[in-house]
Formats: sequence, structure tokens, C-alpha cells
Amino acid sequence: MRKRTGLLIGLVLVLLLVLVALAIPWRASKTAPATAPRPPSATAVPTAPPVVGADGIGDPYFPRAGNGGYDVTAYDIAVRYDPPTDRLEGHTTLTATATESLSRFNLDLRLPASAVTVNDQPATIHQDGGELQVTPAAPVPSGAQMTVRVAYAGVPSSVSGGTEVQSPWVRTADGAVAVGEPDIAAWWYPSNDHPSDKATFTITAVVPAGLQVISNGALLGGPEAVGPGLQQWRWQETEPMATYLAFVAIGNYDIVRRDTRFGLYLAAYDRALDPAIADAARASVEQTPQIIEFLSGIFGPYPFRQLGGVVPDASLGFALEDQTRPVYAPTFFDDGQNVTVVVHELAHQWFGDSVSVDHWSDIWLNEGFATYAEWLYAERNGGPTAAQTAAQNYARHPAGDDFWRTPPGAPGAASVFNNAVYVRGAMALQALRVALGDQNFFAVLRAWATERAGGNGSVQDFLALVKHVSGKSVDALAQTWLVSPARPPAAPG
Ligand code: ARG
Ligand code: ZN
Repeated sequence: MRKRTGLLIGLVLVLLLVLVALAIPWRASKTAPATAPRPPSATAVPTAPPVVGADGIGDPYFPRAGNGGYDVTAYDIAVRYDPPTDRLEGHTTLTATATESLSRFNLDLRLPASAVTVNDQPATIHQDGGELQVTPAAPVPSGAQMTVRVAYAGVPSSVSGGTEVQSPWVRTADGAVAVGEPDIAAWWYPSNDHPSDKATFTITAVVPAGLQVISNGALLGGPEAVGPGLQQWRWQETEPMATYLAFVAIGNYDIVRRDTRFGLYLAAYDRALDPAIADAARASVEQTPQIIEFLSGIFGPYPFRQLGGVVPDASLGFALEDQTRPVYAPTFFDDGQNVTVVVHELAHQWFGDSVSVDHWSDIWLNEGFATYAEWLYAERNGGPTAAQTAAQNYARHPAGDDFWRTPPGAPGAASVFNNAVYVRGAMALQALRVALGDQNFFAVLRAWATERAGGNGSVQDFLALVKHVSGKSVDALAQTWLVSPARPPAAPG
């Protein structure tokens, strides 16, 4: 869902002008011989010659991420998964609008595709390195809606490629979990894999009877018997969601659910977890409603209608802010309760999920903000102030420390999750808070979350909002804290 309406209206106006200009000479040549070419009839629809959609959406860090020429509005993902063999069979339907007249376009998918239809007509396909080229039977006119169905099957954990060493599709004792950033979608469903093309999702999974499937948003149905020894679970996320935030966790889970004033709370804990870790995980994740209450007091209304979390027994090495239901690696709870990571992933529901990056180079808007939320939580719950936390981190990294070489506002593709994006990124927000004063600073955070809810934004957009709300230009501050690959002269504040 990208805001292209203005551009479209502009294009239509230009086309009309061209038509009018073309029509004038035809009118003047009424006396032309009968053999003269016929003037274009008033009903003929002028169409630009079809083009081949680009194999990337235009992200400088990840040039093959996403694709050009269309805009997805809805995904209907349907998979069948067999844990013992790790075989996944998928039938996924995308509803999209062509933004160019397309003779061919790409989807991002790493599992082998067997058949694709476009508007129910079989299409020709070619697949290579995460790109699935689709040539529809007839070109899709610009502005037309298209329904693309993809049949595919494979063994996701054996699929290589992407930015991580470890596969983002991770098998567990009883199932698997699909979690990764920026890469995961192509391991289990075809997509326009970039956060700038958000869409709604319906996610259906058929698994062996007795297993659970947890995903984003509302539980529409399940477990429902759909064949001998098989049952189906259906989930739906109706708020626009970035492709990397769609997840499934399949396995043997204890599910906790209750109604809260933010909607249905549903959390799931892998039954294979070590009991001490399971207890610590529960003691932490079960605080989700109170933490959302805390964060909504600072950032504005919680942007979604469900909440929860998932702790699979998988060595992920990270947590991920999957929309409405973050996934936490068990290792976060090795030393007991850990509310900090829960605060971090829940802060992402505002910053990252509801308001998503325009490009991956804008990652500071996610990680710097979620880290700063941790500092705010400590500040308001008897811990150090955010200024103290910023000063400690500043002192911990002397000039010349590698920490200062990664600027959070331009980290580079290989460093989007570098510690500096998180910690120096949060220091940048502390510096901004000092420069603006608390009232303007928190007004900016709330305005960013509410004005762009369900959409996207860039670092430049955020800095423009700062100027708009506070009347102050913070270009120098941004240069010092976000762009310069050097230690700023003093700790923020
Ligand atoms: N957004 C995640 C977080 O909250 C980071 C995920 C990093 N992913 C990875 N595969 N390294 O910190
Ligand atoms: Zn994060």
C-alpha cells in the first residue's frame, strides 16, 4: 500500500494533455484522402507499452529486495508443514495493483515454485537466486488489480541465500519458526519483500494433529481437523504489515490467552523449553499488557488489536518484533526475568511495525527508538535516568573505539543491526531530548507514531517533523549523532 495516488493523477493529466495535442492535427485534416490513417477513436484506451518490472524496489542497501511495478494490498498465505521432513507446501495468493503496464514482473521467493497464475491465467515462470520472474499470459495494464496465485514446495531450512549465516527458518524439536530481519519471507511465501510495500495478511497452516500454529493478529480458527491426522489454524492481520514481520511458529506450545483493554492477549511457550527458562520467560512476557500500557502513555495509542508473544525452543540469538506478537529467543531468559527485551520488542510495535522504514538505511528509526524505550522504562521505574544511561554508554566507548565508526543514520548494509545503531541511536534521541526539551521531544515521538501509523517514513521525514513541531533545526545534532563516524565531543545532556 504505497501512496501513489498523486503521481497517478499527474500521469493521467499528462496523458490527457498529450491526447488533446495529438487530436488537433487530425481535426485540421478533414479533407485528407480516404486512405489517410484513421484518427484514434474517442473510446480507444491509450496504453503505455508494457515494461518488465524491476527486480528490486530501489533499496540502496539491498538492491534485490522487493520488486518494481506493483503494489501488494493483501497476502493470503496457505502452507502445509511436515516437521519430521521440514517439507513445506504452499499456495499463496497476492492481491496487487500494477503501478506500470507489466509484461513481466518479479516476486521474491526462495522455495521452488511449480505454477503461477495471474488473474486465473497460467503464467510462465523462471526462478533464480530468490527472484521468481512471472510472465503473465497477457500484459497487466497499469492501474489494474491482479490476483497472483503461486504454488510452491520445498525444505525451507535447506534454502540458502540472504544476509544471515543462519537460516531464518529454524527447526525446533516439534516444528519450526519463521523469524528474521530483513530476510525471512522468501523462505516460506512469495512476496514483494520490502517494508515499503505493506499489506494485510491471512495466514493458514495445516500441521500434524496435536501441534499448534501461532502467527500474527487474530486467531480466525483452529485447531480444525482437515484430514486424517491433520489440523488447520487460521490467523489474520488486518493492519498493514511489512513482509518481514509476518511469522509462524509451529510446535508444541502452552498457550495463554486473556482479554485485555488492548485486545486479545495470546502468548505461547514452547513445551520443550527448559523449565527454569520457561518460568523466567513467562514472568517476563506475561507483563506485555502492563508494558503496552506504559508505552502507550508515552507514544500514544497502541496501534494494533491483539497482543502477545512467542518463546520457541530455538537458538535464534535475537528477538523479533513480529507484528502484534514478538518472538523471543529463550536465551534472553537464561538469567531469569528480562523485562527489558519485552519493552524493546513492544516499543517496535509503534516504531518499526506501525511506522515502518522507507528504506533499510532508516533502521535507526526502529532500533534507536526501541532502545531508547528501554532507557525510558528504566527511568520511570526506579532505574537510572536515560541521561545517565546515555552517559554511561558514552563513557564506555572511548574515542577511537570501533563503536563510533558505525553512524546510526547511515550504518551500511552490513551493519544495519550493529550495536551502534541501537545504543548510539538511543544516545542520539537523548541528545535530541536535551535540545528540544521534554515537552517538544515527547510531542515529536507521539506525532511520528500517530501521523504515520500504518505507513512508512525516513530519517529525513523524522527530522522534518522535529523542525515542524519544535521550530528548531537539528541538522547539526543529526550530523554529530547520526552521521559522523566519530565520537561526539561530549555525552548527550
Ligand atoms: N529487530 C530485532 C531487534 O529487535 C533485530 C533482529 C536482528 N536480526 C538478526 N537476524 N540479526 O533487535
Ligand atoms: Zn529492535
